[in-house]
Amino acid sequence: MHNEIEKTLITEEDIQQKCQEIGEQLSKEYEGKFPLAVGVLKGALPFMSDVLRKMDIHVEMDFMDVSSYGNEMRSSGEVKIVKDLDTKVEGRDVIIIEDIIDSGLTLSYLVDLFKYRKANSIKIVTLLDKPEGRTVDIKADITGFSVPNEFVVGYGLDYQEKFRNLPYIGVLKPEVYGGDN
Ligand code: PRP
Ligand code: MN
Ligand code: MG
Repeated sequence: MHNEIEKTLITEEDIQQKCQEIGEQLSKEYEGKFPLAVGVLKGALPFMSDVLRKMDIHVEMDFMDVSSYGNEMRSSGEVKIVKDLDTKVEGRDVIIIEDIIDSGLTLSYLVDLFKYRKANSIKIVTLLDKPEGRTVDIKADITGFSVPNEFVVGYGLDYQEKFRNLPYIGVLKPEVYGGDN
């Protein structure tokens, strides 16, 4: 599958270094607390797994799966819950973990939802940020890397459910997805 990648954008080493930094930062920020880490399926899985293993405090894990209505067009702005949390959010310090913020729709929906459910605090941690994709105003509290408006895959990010298992972030060759971004 590596021959379908045009170039490496972020190496495995740089990702792992970043996970270490973020894990240490979170351990400090939540010292004496028991935060609830919410991974957004499926893309957040590798990042969540690596970051949480760099933390040396107790942290609870749970997962949500949401999807935007109309898979090909994200502009509708509607998000539906495919799998909800098992955990009650009320009073909890929630850390939302994402692989990428693009339009911002997924995260703005989740932040609103957790506010509505009376979280004590909400923090957004994302490995990647694609600021040019933004249609709603939302910022992460912790961002690993900013990426250009290119078709990035790997380390959780997919093209048609492939490439999630790459250990690095790469740019897809245009011929793989058939043309323009
Ligand atoms: C991707 C990505 C983020 C979201 C970001 O997930 O993992 O969750 O889109 O886009 P947004 O900022 O425009 O909302 P996707 O819905 O493709 O599901 P997946 O994680 O299962 O690939
Ligand atoms: Mn996702
Ligand atoms: Mg996807």
